[in-house]
Amino acid sequence: MITDTLFDITKASESRIADVDLDAPGFGREFADHMLEMEYRDGQWQQPEIKPFGSIEITPALNALHYAQSVFEGTKAYYVDGSTINLFRVQKNYERMARSCERMCIPTIEKDIFIEGIKELIRLDHQWVPEKEGNTLYIRPFACAFDPIISARVAEQYRFYIITSPVGSYYERPVKLTTTQQYVRAVKGGVGAAKTAGNYAASLYPAQQAKKEGFDQVLWLDAEEHTYVEEVGTMNIFFVIDGVLVTPSLRGTILPGVTRDSIIELAKHWDMPVEERRISIEEVMQAGKDDKLEEVFGAGTAAVVAPVEEVHHDGQSVTFDIDGRGPVGQKFYKAITDIQYGKAEDPFDWIASV
Ligand code: COI
Repeated sequence: MITDTLFDITKASESRIADVDLDAPGFGREFADHMLEMEYRDGQWQQPEIKPFGSIEITPALNALHYAQSVFEGTKAYYVDGSTINLFRVQKNYERMARSCERMCIPTIEKDIFIEGIKELIRLDHQWVPEKEGNTLYIRPFACAFDPIISARVAEQYRFYIITSPVGSYYERPVKLTTTQQYVRAVKGGVGAAKTAGNYAASLYPAQQAKKEGFDQVLWLDAEEHTYVEEVGTMNIFFVIDGVLVTPSLRGTILPGVTRDSIIELAKHWDMPVEERRISIEEVMQAGKDDKLEEVFGAGTAAVVAPVEEVHHDGQSVTFDIDGRGPVGQKFYKAITDIQYGKAEDPFDWIASV
């Protein structure tokens, strides 16, 4: 065991990498050789450990399983060359994780543990970062309650983990979205802005219903009026209407995406008109009818910039005849991935190299 100031490190005796096709890894099925684990007990986080990736033992009474006091993050490592791997805006992920933890009553994790933990794992498992462009090593930090007690209360014990997984595209092809009048993702005062497990669990049934009707995902509307577009759940949403980039403003019910923020920053940098505002689904559909809806795309860490082929609402559809990204989505995709893979200048200081 290597002990430095931050982590106790136990290296895997052998690597599993020979069993994995890094050129076609799928999404989130394979995991790199090491993981970080840190326990919270007696009122404080304990010494974090980096150790071989493997199963953890839990009791069926684990309160996180019953009451979902649990938060997570998603970020990626990008292969640049044999000696450099890039991380993208991990500080933003840390800040969001800290907010999610606060909302879910999970004790704050120190910034250095989060950021240096990611870096240390990437150093140890650098050969797991796929070289093929478009593929990355997805990094999943998460924290959850760990009391062996089925009482619905704030837990006294927690665990924080970071696991990593080689991934390809989240969406293989342009996506078809539909609204629903029956279900909502998040309510004002709820947990929609937190990256917490329950938001994803709540979306599964409506998404399953949407799939039965031939759609890939639900385009969520606001819970009060069922009028304003919010997000997709797996990604934020952008519309290009008459040359203007429009995305729903954050009002506590939408996840503040790192890719969303990066697109807005880039648009401002390019002097491209961009509006963060409430946008009704009627406005979207009308813009479609008037031939003013030029493009729709989703944005997220897993999804990157994902083209939307269809928006369906109340029996009507706006469709795009595309087999890839439209010009605006493609421009953002290229600008962001060029920065991530170290092929372009990084005027915003978004990259940390390992
Ligand atoms: C991400 O984009 O990192 C997410 O956490 C979304 C998830 C559905 C994979």
